[in-house]
Amino acid sequence: MQRWWLDEHAHAGDEHLDATYVAGYERKQGFDPTEDVEALRSYGLRPDSTLVDLGAGTGVLALAVAPLCRRVIAVDVSPVMTAAIRDRIDAYELENVTVVDAGFLSYEYDGEPVDFVYTRNALHQLPDFWKAIALDRMAGLLRPGGILRLRDLVFDFDPAEAEAHIEAWMAGAVTDSSVGYTAEELAEHVRGEFSTYSWLLDRMLDRTGFDVTERSFRRAAYGTYTCRRRDL
Ligand SMILES: C[S@@+](CC[C@H](N)C(=O)[O-])C[C@H]1O[C@@H](n2cnc3c(N)ncnc32)[C@H](O)[C@@H]1O
Repeated sequence: MQRWWLDEHAHAGDEHLDATYVAGYERKQGFDPTEDVEALRSYGLRPDSTLVDLGAGTGVLALAVAPLCRRVIAVDVSPVMTAAIRDRIDAYELENVTVVDAGFLSYEYDGEPVDFVYTRNALHQLPDFWKAIALDRMAGLLRPGGILRLRDLVFDFDPAEAEAHIEAWMAGAVTDSSVGYTAEELAEHVRGEFSTYSWLLDRMLDRTGFDVTERSFRRAAYGTYTCRRRDL
């Protein structure tokens, strides 16, 4: 590995490496994968599909789509997260989910190009230079016409509007950190993590070979993108 390559483990977010935090993670997130599963199905997810979930966390989406497709590969850089997914797979006796300890920038795949890449709330761990490389690597995993569904904290406003939007977003924060994100946690995210602007992400997606077919935002701070990998 080149000496300038990013250490993804060091950028994984300390909380994601913490067993106590991970044990309470799903309660905090309250993530219901139904909408994503429906979206993936509407884009052609079917029994012979393969999906790679990058930054899979505790595997909520991976496990939800496993009964609907041929193979799911859940990738995460945190060994605590991957251990949680492996426990689930054993408990549910799922045979079509593979768990890989790796990151956006280190995952190596040598099978047939996949049909779907999914990533939720993880890409912001990478600075923009690396996001673009990660997106390029995602394009490399997908077959032409394959689908990327990307959800993350993405800021859909101009820099001059940042203060108003960030304050409005923080006003919707919860006070109990076990069931959501507090204003201080959101402030810490803005200060210390790498959520980008939508107009930068749009360009990165274009430059790495994706056509955005749908994009929507919640509170101008949370983006859901569905993209199709262009034919080369
Ligand atoms: C906020 S959690 C989201 C987990 C899951 N996708 C979800 O929606 O519940 C972020 C996840 O990204 C993982 N992560 C952080 N940096 C990563 C990287 N460079 N490559 C892959 N996963 C990474 C963390 O370990 C963590 O599991």
